[in-house]
Amino acid sequence: MSTQPGVFLSFEGIDGSGKSTQTRLLADHLRAQGREVVLTREPGGSPGAEEIRALVLQGDPDRWSAETELLLFTAARRDHLERTILPALAAGKVVICDRFADSTRMYQGLSRGDLRASVDQLHALMIGREPDLTILIDMDPATGLARAKSRNGVEERFEDFGTGLQEKMRAGFLDLAREFPDRIRVINGAQGVETVAQDIAAVVDKHLT
Ligand code: TYD
Repeated sequence: MSTQPGVFLSFEGIDGSGKSTQTRLLADHLRAQGREVVLTREPGGSPGAEEIRALVLQGDPDRWSAETELLLFTAARRDHLERTILPALAAGKVVICDRFADSTRMYQGLSRGDLRASVDQLHALMIGREPDLTILIDMDPATGLARAKSRNGVEERFEDFGTGLQEKMRAGFLDLAREFPDRIRVINGAQGVETVAQDIAAVVDKHLT
């Protein structure tokens, strides 16, 4: 086992912003440098958290209140942290996580009334860890929707949320980037896939040196 502490990177953005593609490209880029990379995602990323994922992402939109949803996402994150993220960091690996606590700050903290204080309290109590660097892929929701549709159902939840809520999420994420300027880097997602990947690689390489 390496004695080097690992590096914890997260990706955030509205649905359809291209996170999944970009996390994969960044993993390839870092592996080509000889780094050990663990690519994971939320909700999920450990067997228990994947079971919770099915509870929160499937079924009726009104299945859970915002508060119950917050508890479920936090339970999933705690399991993911204990079983997947912390062991990988302890082994000196680079962890790339598709969504982390910033998604809860937005989707549970902002989308149905203001629950941000509860999100932050629960995070401090049960998670207590932020990524070392967060890549926010910023994108106009209409462009994201067009991309999601052209990919034929890959990001199907995007359409369910509606453009109005996605606009609110986009503005909220940009506010979050201003709140955590040392941690969150905003990348222009309205460029070609390769250009976005290059921008991200440059930011991450700089952080890792
Ligand atoms: P997913 O199908 O993975 O979408 P995407 O590829 O766009 O990330 O579903 C994740 C959904 O879960 C996404 O719509 C955002 C939501 N979510 C929350 O509401 N709270 C959270 O804490 C997390 C991690 C995700």
